Amino acid sequence: MQKLLYVQLGDQISDQIREGLYKVGERLPSVRELSKREQVSIATVNTAYANLEQRGWIEARPKSGYFVRRSSLDAVDLPETANLKPKPRHVSINELAMEVQRGASSKTGASFCAAVPDLNFPISKIIQRTYVSQARAGVTFDQGYDSPEGLYELRKQIAKRALEAGIRVGVDELITTSGAQNALALALRALTKPGDIVAVESPCYFGLLQMIESFGLKSIEIPTDPKDGMSIDALKLALQQWPIKVVLSITAYSNPLGCVMPNDHKQALIQLLQQYDIAMIEDDIYGELQFEGHRPKAVKAFDEEGRVLWCSSVSKTMDPKLRVGWIAPGKYYAEILHQKYVNSIALPSLPQSVAAQVMAQGQFDRHLRQAREAYRQRSQHLIDLAQMHFPSEMRASSPQGGLVVWFEMPKKIDATDLYYQCRERDVRIAPGELFSVTGLYQNCFRMSFAKPWTLESEQAVAMIGQQLKEMMMKS
Ligand SMILES: Cc1ncc(COP(=O)(O)O)c(C=O)c1O
Repeated sequence: MQKLLYVQLGDQISDQIREGLYKVGERLPSVRELSKREQVSIATVNTAYANLEQRGWIEARPKSGYFVRRSSLDAVDLPETANLKPKPRHVSINELAMEVQRGASSKTGASFCAAVPDLNFPISKIIQRTYVSQARAGVTFDQGYDSPEGLYELRKQIAKRALEAGIRVGVDELITTSGAQNALALALRALTKPGDIVAVESPCYFGLLQMIESFGLKSIEIPTDPKDGMSIDALKLALQQWPIKVVLSITAYSNPLGCVMPNDHKQALIQLLQQYDIAMIEDDIYGELQFEGHRPKAVKAFDEEGRVLWCSSVSKTMDPKLRVGWIAPGKYYAEILHQKYVNSIALPSLPQSVAAQVMAQGQFDRHLRQAREAYRQRSQHLIDLAQMHFPSEMRASSPQGGLVVWFEMPKKIDATDLYYQCRERDVRIAPGELFSVTGLYQNCFRMSFAKPWTLESEQAVAMIGQQLKEMMMKS
């Protein structure tokens, strides 16, 4: 039977992509051009492109046309949402987490284990120069301690940028912190006492699980969709069964799944917070790292009662070494300010001043545009390489922002064994074991794509693939 015209055209284009005629990231002919060239109707081209987009070959970018998304292989399946019955558990994250974190600063080999931004963009030089000039000018040394709420100029810049996330927050409603980790810790300390239950995503960033453990809290892992984030239905059920004290979620380009919570889920979440009279800690550290379009709105944007404590930092957009973060704690402002004061009195002024100066310059937004596009291409390259080298049964997340991809392998793969085998070869990944206290993700691992690709890092991915295939054969 003769194939439909749009199917023929789609096959022709996917063959051309497979043969390398169009490379990943390259723009395809416009609908009009293709219709003229192939002597088919506009509707046929539109249907062919829509079909290719659905199959993961190409992507539409608003006002720019269609671009190649995948190379020679078919689109990858997303990881499966964990089929778990949420139950509160004591967290016990072992030494492995610390070791993985240390591996991030390894100067040799290929390190995919930490969600650290590329620090070779021109903005790094600007940050250094600003540091030196601010220190020379003695700008922040005219008084003793910085105020407990933090440097005014920085809070002003944060309040301006928050508008992009749909958040209207006054300068006096923000508190600066030592990175996002400190913001999250202050929030947990202010809202909970040992033994309380915190609802988290599953899989969950291990830094959060470790914090929950160290505060003597219990976590309840809520099934999380690789596209839409924490399941609101599952959260609702958990709230009906357990006295959950606070919900903690990375709502934009989460770590590790890269998912983004849709706006209607955010609204439903706010309703649940109101119904159960609880708070939410929103970790929005990746919110400005969208690959395309506008950054997602924060849950905080829908919060009219001040129940959401919005936390973020410059660690992923500027440099984690600045240790500059913030929190908009809503109605918990006084508790958070007190926590900050008793824990550290105040922050060093210089890094806050540097972050404020850099944010105030146009170069920062230019940098973000450049970084987003670079990360988009690098993430795609990682997925392409994985398709080339990893076992064909693999599943992978398809992040639309952020810094990491989550890989799921067949159950017979032990990713902690894989981690040790890779480490012997000076290659670092983050094993799935770290991202849960339920033992659910032993066959998964997370890889960061932030650094530019080199022959060495491409070979490292091939090596991981080789190890995986040997493990598959042995089991
Ligand atoms: C989701 C998430 N939250 C918080 C942090 C810690 O951020 P900071 O370095 O700003 O303390 C990280 C770091 O990787 C992270 O991925």
